Amino acid sequence: MKTVAIAGTARGQAIEDGSLRETATRSGLLFGSAVSYRELQDSTFTSLLARQASIVVPENEMKWERIHPGPNRYDFKAGDALATFAEAHEQKLRGHNLCWHRQLPPWFKQLANAGNAQELLRTHISEVAGHYAGKIHSWDVVNEAINIEDGRPDGLRKSIWLELVGPDYLAVAFKAASAADGKAVLTYNDYDLEQDSPKHEAKRAAVLKLLATLQSNGAPIQALGIQSHLKASQGRSEWTGLHRFLNKVEAMKLQVFVTELDVNDADLPGNIEERDRDVAALYGDFLHQVLQHRCVKAVLTWGLTDRDSWLNSFKPRADGLPKRPLPFDSNMQAKPAFYAIQEALSQRPRTP
Ligand code: XIL
Repeated sequence: MKTVAIAGTARGQAIEDGSLRETATRSGLLFGSAVSYRELQDSTFTSLLARQASIVVPENEMKWERIHPGPNRYDFKAGDALATFAEAHEQKLRGHNLCWHRQLPPWFKQLANAGNAQELLRTHISEVAGHYAGKIHSWDVVNEAINIEDGRPDGLRKSIWLELVGPDYLAVAFKAASAADGKAVLTYNDYDLEQDSPKHEAKRAAVLKLLATLQSNGAPIQALGIQSHLKASQGRSEWTGLHRFLNKVEAMKLQVFVTELDVNDADLPGNIEERDRDVAALYGDFLHQVLQHRCVKAVLTWGLTDRDSWLNSFKPRADGLPKRPLPFDSNMQAKPAFYAIQEALSQRPRTP
């Protein structure tokens, strides 16, 4: 018993010395998280962020509704604040996102029609990606374009973009992004790509087809973002479908980023130790699997501390207890999930 306790402590201390940022760097990876403008005002948080992240992404501040609040009005204040922070702390900056069916400003729905939507999309991308040109590591150019439930043979979501522009809207967006910023890694980003279930398998197949179509249409796409909003209640997985999928994505010469990782503890019992243990186990297992693929270059969690996780407002637990889906707790202390991420990052196989 004593040996185990001592070994545990020694290991814990040794491990705590390595931030996720340093650990990732040693393995040739980037680690970071989504950040909100509000969090950036909190100096305890920002010192944690500076220490732990080598890459950051604005949680909402570059979305249409925030950055393009009027037809001819752009508001770069909050996005610029994160860009300045990232530059000061030698962090890379992701752009999220240029084309999505959600968080569009009210004016867009009033004004957009089949006659002008393509031009609105091009102009928005040229203004926003142009503003940040040279500062962005990678842009999520199109977000969540696949929705199998909509029943189309190509799997495309029946979104406002599809309705107003047609299936070509994705290629239009990628071409506009490339014209505005020739340096950023242009990324397609989506969710429900991770589990072994038939639902996720169908989505993986549709995403592969979409990526192949984009490439054959000459769309300048260079990466895939797998959001990775995981559910702790999903149980153990073999990740067979995910491995096959990542091999195919790699064969298409695309990079892969884990863009929005968190572990939803909605269906786990209230007991905190048990919950933290299961959440950490899934973080460790998932990252251990995906990091075997050399195409995976970056891991970002969707938030850094439980205090600010979107899951608490967006999808609260049935028992009303705060969720614990991220590596740090509400007091910014490392949780078991932190150590699981750290271990997985450190064990990333080295490039031969
Ligand atoms: C979420 C934000 O975290 C919330 O604050 C906001 O209210 C809704 O959007 N997929 C995405 C992210 O690509 O942009 C979403 O972010 C989470 C799901």
